[in-house]
Amino acid sequence: MKIYVFHGVNLNLLGRREPEIYGRTSLAELNARLEAMGRENGIEVECRQTNYEGEMVSWIGELKPSDFLIINPGAWTHSSYALYDAIKGVNVPALEVHLSNIYAREGFRSRSLIAGACLGQISGLGTDSYLLALAYALEFQKYRQEKNLQQGVEENKNS
Ligand code: DQA
Repeated sequence: MKIYVFHGVNLNLLGRREPEIYGRTSLAELNARLEAMGRENGIEVECRQTNYEGEMVSWIGELKPSDFLIINPGAWTHSSYALYDAIKGVNVPALEVHLSNIYAREGFRSRSLIAGACLGQISGLGTDSYLLALAYALEFQKYRQEKNLQQGVEENKNS
């Protein structure tokens, strides 16, 4: 029961890539904050980045329904049916995040091919998009953990 944060193409450049749009926080700094937030809440958060779409598809394919996925697919958001299928295929709760407001930029960014496979989307709040997504994911996972515990208690009662 983990929370995975997958960053897609070009997000390795965070902090030095168009900082007026994407901010000055590096990917390493962002990941450190997310992982620390997980530790504070007793839930493991694992962050990964790739520039290879097939690798991202494979990572998603390895997820279990009990995991939670936070994904910023970068430009694949607007181009990848494969990522949509991958997220749908593993039946994992997912949130799509974007640093920039994809609806306030070039026209091609206004369409997300991934959104329909996700519970929701947070776009335009800089690194806070991730932090808010993680706050939601932590609550979601804690609730599921509690539910499993109760089911365990019920099973014990019946045996
Ligand atoms: C992005 C928005 C995408 O349109 C863009 O291609 C990115 C970053 C964001 O986080 O704002 O690479 O996903």
